[in-house]
Amino acid sequence: MQRNNIRSMKIQIINGPNLNLLGRREPGIYGSSSFDDYLPQLQARYPDVQIDYYQSNVEGELINKMQEVGFDYDGIVLNAGAYTHTSIALQDCIRSLKCPVIEVHISNVHQREEFRHHSMISAACKGVICGFGLDSYRLAIEALSPSQPLPKGEAKIGL
Ligand code: DQA
Repeated sequence: MQRNNIRSMKIQIINGPNLNLLGRREPGIYGSSSFDDYLPQLQARYPDVQIDYYQSNVEGELINKMQEVGFDYDGIVLNAGAYTHTSIALQDCIRSLKCPVIEVHISNVHQREEFRHHSMISAACKGVICGFGLDSYRLAIEALSPSQPLPKGEAKIGL
């Protein structure tokens, strides 16, 4: 799609289990803002990007949504929550899609319990962003957006 010569991208944000509780869930780790409060700010910042949002606590529903958009959208920003650390099915799904998937985490999982240090999905993703609070999602949009020039001499790898 073309709008004012700028390509209008479609990016799907997908949040996994317990991320519907953002703002109420362990605020010391995940902050005090709900995703519903954050999303409009993110959308307003990228008027030329269609940013859609989906959340489910159910692994198969996350897979269904990724299959639905993954051959049509320009990218997926995925916070798979705890399924990050367990789900071969999510990894297989990411490998099956046409569009790039960026793995995001609000917390720095590497500063936390050891079981959070391993991701079943990182190897299938284009890249991983973690530890920047809700700003991790914005950084993932930046990584997917070709309209954001990097400083001279820096190359955007693979996107
Ligand atoms: C999380 C980190 C995961 O380990 C955890 O299970 C979550 C949230 C994060 O965004 O920091 O649910 O993905």
